[in-house]
Amino acid sequence: MEQKTDLSEAEIAVHWQEEGYYQPSTSFIAQANLTDPDIFKRFSVDNFPECFKEFADLLTWFKYWEKTLDTSNAPFWRWFVGGRINASYNCVDRHLEKYRNKAAIHFVPELEHEPVQHVTYQELYVRVNEMAALLRNLCGLKTGDRVTLHMPMVPELPITMLACARIGVIHSQVFSGFSGKACADRIVDSGSRVLITMDGYYRSGTMQDQKEKADIAVKDAAAEGYKVDTVLIWQRYPGKYSSPQKLVEGRDVIVNDALKHYRGARIEPEHMPAEAPLFLMYTSGTTGKPKGCQHSTGGYLAYVTWTSKNIQDIHPEDVYWCMADIGWITGHSYIVYGPLALGASSVIYEGVPTYPDPGRPWRIAEELGVNIFHTSPTAIRALRRAGPDEPQKYNFRFKHMTTVGEPVEPEVWRWYYEHVGKGAAVIVDTWWQTENGGFLCSTIPALNPMKPGSAGPALPGIYPVIYDDDGNEIPRGANRAGNICIRNPWPGIFQTVWGDPDRFVRQYYERYNKKKGSTDWRDWPYFAGDGAMQPPDGYYRILGRIDDVINVAGHRLGTKEIESAALTVPEVVEAAVVPVPDEVKGRVPDLYVALKHGIKASRELEEKIAKAVITEISPIARPRKVWIVPDMPKTRSGKIMRRVLAAVSSGKDAGDVSTLANPEVVAELRKLAEQTKV
Ligand code: PRX
Repeated sequence: MEQKTDLSEAEIAVHWQEEGYYQPSTSFIAQANLTDPDIFKRFSVDNFPECFKEFADLLTWFKYWEKTLDTSNAPFWRWFVGGRINASYNCVDRHLEKYRNKAAIHFVPELEHEPVQHVTYQELYVRVNEMAALLRNLCGLKTGDRVTLHMPMVPELPITMLACARIGVIHSQVFSGFSGKACADRIVDSGSRVLITMDGYYRSGTMQDQKEKADIAVKDAAAEGYKVDTVLIWQRYPGKYSSPQKLVEGRDVIVNDALKHYRGARIEPEHMPAEAPLFLMYTSGTTGKPKGCQHSTGGYLAYVTWTSKNIQDIHPEDVYWCMADIGWITGHSYIVYGPLALGASSVIYEGVPTYPDPGRPWRIAEELGVNIFHTSPTAIRALRRAGPDEPQKYNFRFKHMTTVGEPVEPEVWRWYYEHVGKGAAVIVDTWWQTENGGFLCSTIPALNPMKPGSAGPALPGIYPVIYDDDGNEIPRGANRAGNICIRNPWPGIFQTVWGDPDRFVRQYYERYNKKKGSTDWRDWPYFAGDGAMQPPDGYYRILGRIDDVINVAGHRLGTKEIESAALTVPEVVEAAVVPVPDEVKGRVPDLYVALKHGIKASRELEEKIAKAVITEISPIARPRKVWIVPDMPKTRSGKIMRRVLAAVSSGKDAGDVSTLANPEVVAELRKLAEQTKV
C-alpha cells in the first residue's frame, strides 16, 4: 500500500487496461525513412557499440573518429573518440549548397495579426555568424566558457545557441518562465559571466517583462558572491526596447545595436572534440538543488539526428512543428538540433497553444502546411477540453504525430488520433528524459503498430531491463512493475552532472552497479528513476517517477525544490509537497506547511508562501493549495509521511496510520480538508 502511494505517477498509468493495436497507414509506410525490418538485428547486442556508426554517419565530421566507445573511465562514457565536429556547421553550413533558400525556421508570433517570419538557411547562416562574432569579440568568450540564456520562444534563441556552438561555448538555456532567482542559481552553478536574454515576449496576449528577471538574476547571483559582467538583451521588436526596466551602464548591451558592428562577419566553426560539452540543461532531482546535465557534441548530435530522421520521420521537405519550449530538453533535441541537422523546416511558436482560442494550433498548421506535429499529453488534454471539434474546421493533414513527457490516457490518445491526426497520422509515444539526449522507447512508426497508453519497445541499440527493489531482474514480458534501467550506454546519454561527478555516479549508476571500478559497460546499468512494466509484446508502459519528482503539465519539478522555496518564508518551519491528480496537467503540487510556534494561520500567509514558490522557482510550480497544518503526520523516527498527506489531498483513504507517532493529526487534517474544499 505504502509503495503504491509513493509511486505517484503510477496511479495515472495503471488505471487503464491494455489496449488493442492501431496499424500505420500504407501511405505513411510508403514514404517512411525507416522500413527495414532487419533494423533490430543490425542493432543487436552483438553489434554493440559499433552499430552506432550509423548514427554518427548522418553527420559531417572535420575529422572522423577512431574509437566508437571508450569505457576506460566508466560510467563516464566517451563516444566517437578522436572525432572533430561542430554542431553549428552541421545544422547550418552544410545545408547551404542544397537548401540555401529553404526555410530553416518558421517563427509564429503569438499575436495573430503579426506576420510569420521565415528564416532561410542562408539567413540563419548570416545571423549565427554575426552573433558568434559578437560573442567572441564583444564578450571575449572562448571555447569551454559557459553562457546562460534566459530566452523566450523566438528565432533569436536557436541563433544564439548555434552561435555559441560555433565557437565552442557551452550554452545553458533556462526556461523563460523560470524566475530571476531560479536563473541566478543556474548562472552561479554553471559559472556564466554572460547572461543573454530578451526584453520581453508575448504570452496570453500580454507582453512579459523578461529583462526584469535578468536584473533580479544578476542581483541574486551577486548575493551569492558571483558576478555577471555582461547582460546581452535581444529586442523582441528590433529597433524598439520593450521593457520598462532601465539599462545598466557598463553591463547591459542591446544585441540588435551591437550586431551592427559585426555585419558580414564570418566565423570559422571550431573543430570541437566529439566529447566536448555542447550544452547544459538543468533539471530537477531528489535534492533541492537542480543539476546541470552536461551533453556532448558528437554523441548527442548523432543521437538526435538519427532519432529525428527515423522516429520523427523527418525528411528535408517536411514542415515540422514541435510545440515544446526550447527551454526544455525536448526543444533542444527536437526543435533545434535534430531537425536542423537534417535540413528540415522547424516551426517556433511564441505563445500559448490556446491563445486566442483553441483553434490556433490548427490554423498555424494549415497556414504553414505542417505535416509533422509533436506535443505533450497536457497540451492535448487542454486542446481537447477547450475545443474538441476545432481540428476538423481546418484544412491541415499530419502524417506523423508525437506525444512526450507524461503517460497519455488511451481516451486522450484516441482523440489525438481521430481528431487531430484525422485517422491518418501515425503516432509515436516517446519515453525519455533530460539526461538521455533523445528518445529511449518508442514504436518505429512504419514498423511497429501503435498501442494507446504505452510507449513502444526500446529503440534500436537500447537494451532496457526492469529490476525489482532487491536488484533482481524482472523477466522480460512478465508485466510486473519495477525500476526501469538501460543496460548499455548510448551516444545521447549525458556525460556528467556539471561540477558534481560524484552525484552523477551516485544517482544514476550506483544502485544497480555490479562491480565497483569495472570498465565493462555491462556492469553499469543506467538507473532512470521511473517505474515501468513490460507486457509480453515488449511495449514498455511507463508508470512514472519513483523519486521525489513531480511531473506537472509535463514540467519536471522537485518536491524538495518547492519545499525549500516555502522554507524561505520566515514563519514556516516545515514543508512537504505531494502530487495530486489533475484532469489537464496530470499532476499538481499540494504544499503542506507547519508554522513556527505562536504564529497564526491566515489567508495572507498562504498567499505569501505561494508567492515565495513563484519567486524562487516559477508560476509553473505554484501549489494548487497551501495547507497550513497544526502538525505534520510523522513516523516515530520523525520522517514526514507524505503518503498520508497525498491521501488527504486526493480525498482517499490514508490506509494504516497506526505506526505514526501522532495518528491523531490525521483526523485534524481531514477536518481541515472538509472545511476548505478545494
Ligand atoms: O517520468 C518520465 C516522464 O518524464 C520524465 C522525464 O522528464 P524530463 O526530464 O523533463 O523530460 C521530459 C521530456 C523528455 C520521465 O522520467 N516521461 C517522459 N516521457 C514519457 C514519460 N512518462 C510516460 N510516457 C512518456 N512517453
